[in-house]
Amino acid sequence: MKRIMIVDDDPSLTRTLELYFRGKDYHVSVFGTGREAFEYWRAEEPDLVLLDVQLPDMDGPEVLERAKDEELEGEVIMITAFHDTEATLKAIRLGAADYLYKPIDLDALDLLLEKILRRKAEREELARLSHVISRSYKPNQIIGRSKAMLEVVKAIAQVAQTPASVLLEGETGTGKELVAQTIHQEWAPEEPFVAINCAAIVENLLESELFGHEKGAFTGATQRKVGRLEVAGRGTVFLDEMGEFPLELQSKLLRVLQEREFHRVGGVKTISLNARVIAATNRDMESMVESGSFREDLYFRLKVFFIRIPPLRERVDDIVPLTEYFVHRLNEEMGRKVSRIPKSHLETLRSYDWPGNVRELQNVLRRAMILSNGDTLELDEQWLRRKEPVLAVKPPDSAGFAEDNELLSLEEVERAHILKVLRHTRGNYGEACGILGISRPTLRRKISEYTLPVDLKE
Ligand SMILES: Nc1ncnc2c1ncn2[C@@H]1O[C@H](COP(=O)(O)OP(=O)(O)OP(=O)(O)O)[C@@H](O)[C@H]1O
Ligand SMILES: [Mg+2]
Repeated sequence: MKRIMIVDDDPSLTRTLELYFRGKDYHVSVFGTGREAFEYWRAEEPDLVLLDVQLPDMDGPEVLERAKDEELEGEVIMITAFHDTEATLKAIRLGAADYLYKPIDLDALDLLLEKILRRKAEREELARLSHVISRSYKPNQIIGRSKAMLEVVKAIAQVAQTPASVLLEGETGTGKELVAQTIHQEWAPEEPFVAINCAAIVENLLESELFGHEKGAFTGATQRKVGRLEVAGRGTVFLDEMGEFPLELQSKLLRVLQEREFHRVGGVKTISLNARVIAATNRDMESMVESGSFREDLYFRLKVFFIRIPPLRERVDDIVPLTEYFVHRLNEEMGRKVSRIPKSHLETLRSYDWPGNVRELQNVLRRAMILSNGDTLELDEQWLRRKEPVLAVKPPDSAGFAEDNELLSLEEVERAHILKVLRHTRGNYGEACGILGISRPTLRRKISEYTLPVDLKE
């Protein structure tokens, strides 16, 4: 028989729930305080816990936190009031499976139970099959076995059960976009995932890009345009490079996120915002808030749920599995049959500090695959002794392209070309942006990503 513990100080509510669960053949125990509940939890390990957010002696999330500290089992459903959003989110972060609002609707509870039990069964099934899965990679899979990455994966699983906004922070190439896509896949795979790079769009176009505009709203608006927030429907809007989001537009975005509705530029119709917002940044937003270049209220609105993706050098244990994964994928993509990676190469890869993170590892391996004709990976260890991310074939002070017969990645060509244009404009960013057709923040980002020579820094 399954055991449930109901923790709430409202006797009429617990009575109803008790009858409901008895009817479903549960063994029911009811408690009115956190302390009693915790003691029972520890002693009896119930299968299911219904936990009120507010209890007379301590709050629900606190009880949950203690239980998690002691690694107590049990699926937890929080019982919450509308004004308790903060505490509820805290509980979800701590590992609660879901929540229900008071007054409790028993039909909703039915659905929720079914969902939780199904998820639990799927998890058990997955655990049983995991060694098989790790050999047959899924597309866009997040690879990693370091503790830090498992935390990230856990956070993804938690946030994917709620519509909360998410802020992802991580250095370039750590996998922010991949994480955003994974959250989306878990949350609303049938709905659109719409990405918008806030740094790549000229400031005055960003507003209409996000919200859309009506015909004639401004000079050049010859047709109605539907904004990305609208295109995303019930899916996900991914605001990439959020640190570059123009200050003037921040209050408008804040209002839209608060009211969950907006107008197209020049329009009167109210359009509701149904999509989840995930923002990503490689900048330290907290210090931007301190220095006044990012609104604090917007920052907190975006950061309902915060995931920091650690740089690769902080999760060295991911390097070998990532290497195996990329070699596997590159074999397929390039029609190679590399099946052996010398141990010494793995050691070298593990000891390098990867300023360009996972993307850089991917680039290094792509180049190694080009060199490898047989079944053994050939890695030129010299590549990893330099200080800048491995992207260019030629050293950074050579401006031209490499030999015609050299196989370069797009990134390598892009880097060389940016360098050439910057040399031509003698480091004048404005002129370089004009020639390259990109915005200044994009140029700045590419320069730091490709670690171009310092004498060309603005
Ligand atoms: N844990 C991982 N497992 C598998 N692939 C990964 C992982 N992390 C990153 N990648 C891959 O590395 C590349 C870079 O990741 P991504 O584009 O998500 O980084 P990012 O943080 O958005 O970088 P940037 O700040 O430069 O935009 C992608 O090809 C992505 O699929
Ligand atoms: Mg990105």
